Amino acid sequence: MAPSIPVTRTGKSRLSETDFNRLEFGKYISDHMLLCAWKEGAWQQPEIVPYGPVSFTPAMLALHYGQAVFEGMKAYRMADGRITIFRPDMHAERFNRSLQRMAMPPMDNEFFLTCLRALVEADKEWVPAHEGSALYIRPVVFATEQRLGLKVSDEYLFVILTGPVGPYFNKPIKVKVEETYVRAAEGGTGFAKCAGNYGGAFYPTLRARKEGYDQVLWTDACGHQYIDESGAMNVMFVINNRLITPALTSAILDGVTRHTLLTLAREMGIAVEERKISVKELKDAFERGLITEAFGAGTAAVVATIAAIGIGGTDYYLPEPHAGPVQERLRRQLHDIRRGHAPDIYGWNYIIA
Ligand code: COI
Repeated sequence: MAPSIPVTRTGKSRLSETDFNRLEFGKYISDHMLLCAWKEGAWQQPEIVPYGPVSFTPAMLALHYGQAVFEGMKAYRMADGRITIFRPDMHAERFNRSLQRMAMPPMDNEFFLTCLRALVEADKEWVPAHEGSALYIRPVVFATEQRLGLKVSDEYLFVILTGPVGPYFNKPIKVKVEETYVRAAEGGTGFAKCAGNYGGAFYPTLRARKEGYDQVLWTDACGHQYIDESGAMNVMFVINNRLITPALTSAILDGVTRHTLLTLAREMGIAVEERKISVKELKDAFERGLITEAFGAGTAAVVATIAAIGIGGTDYYLPEPHAGPVQERLRRQLHDIRRGHAPDIYGWNYIIA
């Protein structure tokens, strides 16, 4: 179903109050939002309304039992002024895998794309144009049924919010290999973009921050031997001139940026390895001077340069410049495709206006 979506426009745009030259990640929310309820076994008519509070009962199931999943994608202003959403089809597929894992209702990809397009069109003035900025798009579905008993909800709300953003990190980061706490175990919900994965990460991340790190580098739940991912992104290393990233497991998020960068790297003739990478291998690579780059890959983070990795109480620094040539080539190519400077041979740009 591809519905036509009614739009109620705000009488008071907040565009003029928004400082597009200083876009912190997540600070601003655009004028409109999309709302769509799921009840009686079906998604209802979506609508676009002015962004603002929505009332709920504190007895809604999402608050108690955690049925809440989200996505994060970006719309860009191309060099010729058109607007593109980057790889929304891959996000739609992952959204559905997350929904399924959390026993929540699936959403037809076409329906999802129609909703996205309609909302971004309604707030197209909010898509920033300058280098390093984008319109972040946050779809979320959560359980709204009022009930205290432990059960799968029969009612949900699908909401899409958007907001102009700048870089997620504005300098190279320090990450700490986590050897006490666990983000996700195989068979759990690590591959799903569900709210609980992030809530559970806050406490270890706060502890790492107190020790001077920006993010945690999660390791496997069985023995903390292998690298999984970082807090808000997948992670990649350049060791011996090979681009190495942990192979996907049910404990790792199947990142759209991860997939994009691996595709671009292969196309550039860079040797790519998707495999287990142990903490010991990482430490050895530092000691032997074989590791030249490390970076995160995520929609929000894009390509996030890692300057240092803390392993067992020792900080290992990457050589300068921290933003080495592999990540710089990948970052540039990704940027050029999104802005329309380089050919989009994989059809990643979903041009909407
Ligand atoms: C994203 O990269 O879109 C994320 O969802 C990461 C974070 C902001 C939670």
